[in-house]
Amino acid sequence: MDNTNILLQRHSVRDIMNKEIDVDILKQIIFEAQRAPSYENSQPWKAYIATGKTLESIREVHKQKAENREKSWTEITPPLGWQEHPKNNVENYMNETESLIGEYGIKELLSQNAILFNAPAVIYITIPKDSSHYSAYDAGAFGYGILLSAYHNGLGTVPAYEIIRYPGEIRDHFDIPEDESIFMGIAIGYPTEGKTLSTLIMSRDNLDNILQIKE
Ligand SMILES: Cc1cc2nc3c(=O)[nH]c(=O)nc-3n(C[C@H](O)[C@H](O)[C@H](O)COP(=O)(O)O)c2cc1C
Repeated sequence: MDNTNILLQRHSVRDIMNKEIDVDILKQIIFEAQRAPSYENSQPWKAYIATGKTLESIREVHKQKAENREKSWTEITPPLGWQEHPKNNVENYMNETESLIGEYGIKELLSQNAILFNAPAVIYITIPKDSSHYSAYDAGAFGYGILLSAYHNGLGTVPAYEIIRYPGEIRDHFDIPEDESIFMGIAIGYPTEGKTLSTLIMSRDNLDNILQIKE
């Protein structure tokens, strides 16, 4: 794998091989992600990793709930509406996805979501309940560190709301203190070769739309 510019090469992988990840690699990824900057070095995040039988049990419950379209909720307020700029990007994302993978591909994408992308490990990130926006910023940096470190270690990832939309199934399997909110989930594993869902590269907004430089 060419790691010359991992920021430009990383992308979400939604078709993951059923191949175990060495626990030491998982620990190394979390260790490296801990280098993320945070407000007064508060490091508000915690990580919980499900693998093996624990993840199989969570996946089974999740698949049932997703297929039955059970109403979901998250412990962090999700976007309830979009303002114009992100709304345009979301619309572009939908259109771009449809043009890249078509209607059948979208069905497959939803199925992959329902089985947690078939990942052999899932990382849950928590932050203290009622955290400030800055702790969310910090945990986002930690999460991105996980994605980049994973890529550097030859692993694919996808951060997904899907993974945390039934918090009960996660809390049933871990001792997560009540004063922590489940913030984000990341599926991780070796990408399935040659699958469109492991190779999709989504475009980004034009720099002129997001950047002002004054000299
Ligand atoms: C907070 C957040 C929630 C996401 N939720 C999902 C999800 O539920 N299902 C999914 O397939 N992808 C999900 N994604 C992945 C995004 O769709 C993806 O990051 C975006 O389209 C950009 O593509 P890239 O990661 O391949 O660069 C999520 C990403 C983030 C950061």
